Amino acid sequence: MSPIKILFISIEGNTRSFVKKLADYASGMHDQDSQNPVVSFKEISEQTDFADEVDPFFAFVPTYLDGGNGIDTGVKELMTNTLGEYIDYNQNASLCRGIIGSGNKNFNEQYCLTARRYASKFNVPFLADYELRGTGRDVERIYELLKTTA
Ligand SMILES: Cc1cc2nc3c(=O)[nH]c(=O)nc-3n(C[C@H](O)[C@H](O)[C@H](O)COP(=O)(O)O)c2cc1C
Repeated sequence: MSPIKILFISIEGNTRSFVKKLADYASGMHDQDSQNPVVSFKEISEQTDFADEVDPFFAFVPTYLDGGNGIDTGVKELMTNTLGEYIDYNQNASLCRGIIGSGNKNFNEQYCLTARRYASKFNVPFLADYELRGTGRDVERIYELLKTTA
């Protein structure tokens, strides 16, 4: 099975930590049974040179909003815009198979709003969410989901 490819952005390290845990978990699963795909990932930041993606990918995005609930009071996305621009670059969006969001439930209606906005903008599914660095259970759940969606 070809690798599951992930593009992500991480400002404070939570998403990076989660994606690395997911990749380690996938390697373990692959060692047990070579039918289980490994996970490869690429971090997008303001320093990233935009490129044409050639393989299908999933995008992992945390939420940083400056007020607004995104529904009736507007929304201003901070810090994570580069990933959205990268997905929007040339034909990249056509290879995006879904968005996985993270955030903090204390933000109520704004929880994972950036992921939901990307899913809507690029017309791809909002596949899953987890809080902050996620748990071991989140890693297993999201790996199984990506495996069946890939
Ligand atoms: C300034 C700021 C604004 C945030 N806004 C939201 C928000 O609107 N909704 C949400 O679900 N989480 C929000 N969060 C929580 C982050 O999405 C969460 O901490 C995430 O794990 C950060 O990922 P990262 O460490 O990979 O950058 C916010 C965090 C900060 C510091």
